[in-house]
Amino acid sequence: MDTSSVIPATVVAEHGSRESCWIIVHNKVYDITDFLDGKSSLQQHPGGSRIILRYAGKDATAAYEPVHPPDVISTNLPPEKFIGIAEQSASAVDSPQTEEEKKRELLLASRPPLDEILNLHDFEAVAKTVLPAKAWAYYSSASDDEIAIRENRAAYQRVWFIPRILRDVTKVDWSTTILGQKSSLPIFISATALGKLGHPDGELNLTRAAGKHGVIQMIPTLASCSFNEIVDAAQPGQPLFLQLYVNRDRELTKKYVQNAEKRGVSGLFITVDAPQLGRREKDMRMKFVDDGAGAKVQEGQSGVKKDQGIARAISSFIDPSLAWKDIPWFRSITKMPIVLKGVASPKDAILALEAGVQGIVLSNHGGRQLDNARSGLENLVDIVAALKTRGPWPNPNFSVFIDGGVRRASDVLKALALGASAVGVGRGFLYAFSSYGQEGVERAIEILRDEFEMNMRLLGITSLSELTPDLVDASRLRAGNTPQDNLYSQTYQPLQLAQFRESKL
Ligand SMILES: Cc1cc2nc3c(=O)[nH]c(=O)nc-3n(C[C@H](O)[C@H](O)[C@H](O)COP(=O)(O)O)c2cc1C
Repeated sequence: MDTSSVIPATVVAEHGSRESCWIIVHNKVYDITDFLDGKSSLQQHPGGSRIILRYAGKDATAAYEPVHPPDVISTNLPPEKFIGIAEQSASAVDSPQTEEEKKRELLLASRPPLDEILNLHDFEAVAKTVLPAKAWAYYSSASDDEIAIRENRAAYQRVWFIPRILRDVTKVDWSTTILGQKSSLPIFISATALGKLGHPDGELNLTRAAGKHGVIQMIPTLASCSFNEIVDAAQPGQPLFLQLYVNRDRELTKKYVQNAEKRGVSGLFITVDAPQLGRREKDMRMKFVDDGAGAKVQEGQSGVKKDQGIARAISSFIDPSLAWKDIPWFRSITKMPIVLKGVASPKDAILALEAGVQGIVLSNHGGRQLDNARSGLENLVDIVAALKTRGPWPNPNFSVFIDGGVRRASDVLKALALGASAVGVGRGFLYAFSSYGQEGVERAIEILRDEFEMNMRLLGITSLSELTPDLVDASRLRAGNTPQDNLYSQTYQPLQLAQFRESKL
């Protein structure tokens, strides 16, 4: 195909069906007919054919961009499926803003100035207002009744400090090492997928801010930016971790992991709590309402059901057969430290130790997987007790990380006192860049730094190594009442029930 061909929009529109399906992405016209149902040798679109057919014969860029790394089309489609360059129509050049875009622009212009953002809850409140409804639904959603996500936050409030006094706390240091890599905070950025739903620069906001402030980012398998874009945006020597969803096709997984290692990634976090994605009803309901409002339902198509939400649409490649017997294979393909992300049971913590991995993340995926799964904090107490029976503690060769519900440095200090090596923050940073881009993430780091300084002084410690269990009272973690958290309750959006529609009678 002559790559300089210019294809008029009217010609693209003629290929708007299952039999012949062309789409425009970033001004390039592709024939993706064979991709719809995995015809020929092409891999099927993980989100099913329905979503593609909605853009058949049209420009799909706006829908494509947030949920696909830029190089996905060119690496998955054979070169002959590139038809040519889309002719820019007059309407495309001066395309008027939609009502939603106008509203969003106004909201962005009226955000509180960044120096009035005092804590991580503030970012969440701004994100809730400025994010497109679908993005907010995807980011904020958790599974089933959303008990686990609320408990993640609440658990921290059932642990109390017992501060020490009259210790010289002039100099306070909250830096540490995580899997042997220096970190200015005892916090890493937990992987959260689809960054471009929240901001056009997506995950790069995190990479740039993390590089500037010495924080470690965990790159998600399902990032909106490509892996290489993210690594290219890092500073020389900036440590990065990789979150891995294991593909059914192990050769693809191997290539992905080995490329990451070659590019300098220093830790592999294998997600083990997602053999199937949780039912995230905010996300699912948003999709449902959107489809009901206007989508043209095409007959006889296969693919994801219309109520699956974004999360399930993009994750069908994940291998549910992943098991302990696979761990030696991961060990054989990489020298990176391996960490299992999503551990809850002391029995699994011991199995992980015995399997020779370098650590575990006590996580319930931010409440997005098994609902009613206990918080990482509650599991931490039991898991540390179990690990203490199996060798030296702390174990320099086996790190216990934790994530879920962290919004304050005081949360982190509690987890560290109870035995965690470092703590992951997902939504806190996600909302920071969704509302203010890179500057938002930098401000979030600055806020956490201030909180560490103050809390450590008031706790009577000068370094993280002084954090011992006697500085906290976790006796009410199991049975105590949760104090009211006013900021969190204002940003938490309760689930909605099914909505009536306007009658067509
Ligand atoms: C929008 C969103 C997307 C996420 N995507 C992934 C992912 O792709 N892989 C993964 O292992 N965990 C994912 N997580 C879970 C996070 O890594 C982390 O466990 C969780 O966000 C921690 O809870 P927090 O958001 O309360 O900090 C995601 C979480 C959110 C909120």
